[in-house]
Amino acid sequence: MMRPYLTAITSLSCVLLSACTEVSIEDSDGLRKGQLIYAKECSACHGARGEGAGSASLGLGVVPPDLTGLTQRNDGYFPREFVSRFVTGRLEKDDPASPMPDFSTVGLRHVYPNGGADGEVLETDFANLLDYLEAIQK
Ligand code: HEC
Repeated sequence: MMRPYLTAITSLSCVLLSACTEVSIEDSDGLRKGQLIYAKECSACHGARGEGAGSASLGLGVVPPDLTGLTQRNDGYFPREFVSRFVTGRLEKDDPASPMPDFSTVGLRHVYPNGGADGEVLETDFANLLDYLEAIQK
């Protein structure tokens, strides 16, 4: 009977590699919220699944990068601080004319079309968004 042993190995590698993230997105309110924010604020440019080059990017002249490869491009470590600073406009951009919005200025205007996302709310929202991005790394 090798089965139980194999199952144990499989679940262990899920934990270690965090490769089985789809289940946890459904299980976690924070991740679901992050997914919603991503869908509303980022997917038009970065693709429905973070794979880059979403529909709105066609006329941009720059291809929005694949956000599922952030960890891969960063030696296997999710660059949470970089993403956080980049999204909130606290990092110099390679191209100052880049169409990537500064979300600390524009806010999550698609999630809250009538306003209402600032201060602490925004911080939780950004934390959820970052958790979601971390969960979709390949
Ligand atoms: C209007 C299109 C647009 C939207 C909306 C947008 N981005 Fe971007 N994003 C870009 C472009 C274009 C780049 C690449 C150019 C640059 O570096 O600014 C980029 C770059 C990035 C980078 C840097 C990736 C790297 O590997 O250097 C991150 C991280 C990022 N975006 C995250 C997000 C997140 C998270 C959201 C939603 C909250 C978002 N973006 C919304 C267009 C967009």
